[in-house]
Order: sequence, then structure tokens, then C-alpha cells
Amino acid sequence: MTDSTPAPGSVALITGGTGGFGRALATKLREREVTAVLADLDSERNRSVAADLGCPFVALDVTDRAANEAVVAQVEAEHGRLDAAYLNAGISAAKSEDALDLDEFMRVVEIDLFGVVYGVQAARPAIRRAGGGAIVVTASLAGLAPMATDPGYSVAKGGAIAFVRSMAPRLAREGTTISAICPGFADTAIIDRIRHEFTAAGFPVLTAEEVADAMIAAWAEGEPGAAYVVQPGVGTVNYRFKGVPAARTEAGEPAAVPETLRPKDMR
Ligand SMILES: NC(=O)c1ccc[n+]([C@@H]2O[C@H](COP(=O)([O-])OP(=O)(O)OC[C@H]3O[C@@H](n4cnc5c(N)ncnc54)[C@H](O)[C@@H]3O)[C@@H](O)[C@H]2O)c1
Repeated sequence: MTDSTPAPGSVALITGGTGGFGRALATKLREREVTAVLADLDSERNRSVAADLGCPFVALDVTDRAANEAVVAQVEAEHGRLDAAYLNAGISAAKSEDALDLDEFMRVVEIDLFGVVYGVQAARPAIRRAGGGAIVVTASLAGLAPMATDPGYSVAKGGAIAFVRSMAPRLAREGTTISAICPGFADTAIIDRIRHEFTAAGFPVLTAEEVADAMIAAWAEGEPGAAYVVQPGVGTVNYRFKGVPAARTEAGEPAAVPETLRPKDMR
């Protein structure tokens, strides 16, 4: 992708908006005269981060379905429209132990996967009302290459990518492009616990700005259902899924999937 630009005057919602990627993205969107509404957990720190960036703040816990709907309604009421939703809020497991902590697993999946599902459900009608736009989900490289140290995160991010790919045709029909960003490790608070290991090993990590550039390009020119890998020294790559072996008929010919099971635009 090249760096083209969303239209000035458009309105974007960023969940996890006061975190590392959220702040970098909000700064770049503001430079492009886009209103970036930062949605994040309610705290003094998060409110003041938004104020310092000159962005409106809305309190949101993405695991609360009704709150997702209310935030989108508030954005439309206060800013007149919603053109793009960045579903970016996320956490990883705090521990990395052999025993699987199911409570923590469920918490990560609730935020990183179901938070995305609720966000799409809430933003979809508003973006359609604006005449179409974009939904950009911050997944992770861990959704394509599962991390042995964090099964919950791997499941949630893999699920988010599958959700994006599954939803893409129906959203594209109403003018909304949904895509996923899959960054490798990047220098934000989420890697605070393990940053010293990267430093000690001389392992390169992304800057938040590099990821934000990919997030902007995904809005401006993303392909429906795409998963954009972002890696240090590589840039942004549209990941090509290998596909699966097609079923074969008794005669050995590739079998076509029944028409009713195919998306409408593929019939
Ligand atoms: N930094 C990395 O190495 C990396 C790599 C790949 C993907 N990601 C993903 O990028 C996204 C942004 O993370 P980041 O790197 O900016 O980290 P970050 O910790 O700086 O930001 C995450 C933000 O999400 C918010 N958040 C957490 N739970 C929430 C909830 N229930 N409701 C609303 N907001 C909530 C946090 O308050 C925080 O502001 C996450 O989805 C993360 O999984 C990060």
C-alpha cells in the first residue's frame, strides 16, 4: 500500500484510542484534518491523553455491547457522521506460564475478539449512513503465527482475522471495506513486560508510527478482507492466504460449493 489519505472533514472512531497505536494514529489523522474520537477505558490518564492530542474522548469498555452502540450514537450526534472505525483496543496475557489460566484466556478473548465483533455490529449502520467507509481491525501477527506463550491472544487475533474475512463481502456490498492490520512486536505499553528481552537480543520492534501509517492506508485504499502484515524492515505486506484443498467429485473434478453457501457477489 502507498500512503494515500482519508478525506479531510471525515470522522473516525478509535477504540483503545489513548494507547500507543491509538495516539500515533490520532496524531496522523489530525494532521489530515480528520476528527479522531478516542474511545478507551474511563480514567483521568486516558481523558488527559485525549485532551493533550486535541481529540474528543468517549469512555468505552469494548466488552460492553450496549456501550459500543451508545458510543457510535454519540459520535454521530456530536460529529454528524462516522466514516471509519478503528477497532484497536486490546490486551495480552499478563502471565506466560505452562498452566493455562482460563479466566485470563477468556478475558483476552472477550476484549480482543468479542470487542471487535461488538464494534463492527455497532459501527456498521452508522458508516453505511455516511455513504460507506472503512472498518480497520488491529489484529496481530499472532493471529497468523500463533504465539506459544499466549494461547488466548493467538485465538482472539486469529478469530478477529477470520471474522474480518468472513464479514468482508457483506460489508463491501454496502460500501464499507473491512480489513485487518497484523503488526509484529511494536514499541507500546503492551510489550512493557518483555521489552528488555527484545533489547537484550537485539531484536527489532516496530514504532507505533509505522503501524499507524498502515492503519491509515487500510482506510484509504484497503482491500475487503485483507490482512496487512507489518514487520520491522519489511513494511506493510498484503498477506496471501494459501487456501485449502478443494473437495473433489467422484470423477476427480474440483467440486463447486453449493450456490446458497457462497456470498451473494460470488454466485
Ligand atoms: N504493540 C504490539 O507489539 C502489538 C502487536 C500486534 C498487535 N497489537 C495490538 O494493537 C492494539 C493496540 O495496542 P497497543 O500496542 O497500542 O497497546 P496499548 O496497551 O498502548 O494500547 C491498548 C489500549 O487498549 C485499551 N483497552 C484495553 N482494554 C480495553 C477495553 N476493555 N475497552 C476499551 N479499551 C481497552 C487500553 O486502555 C489501551 O489504551 C491491541 O489490539 C494489540 O493487541 C499490538
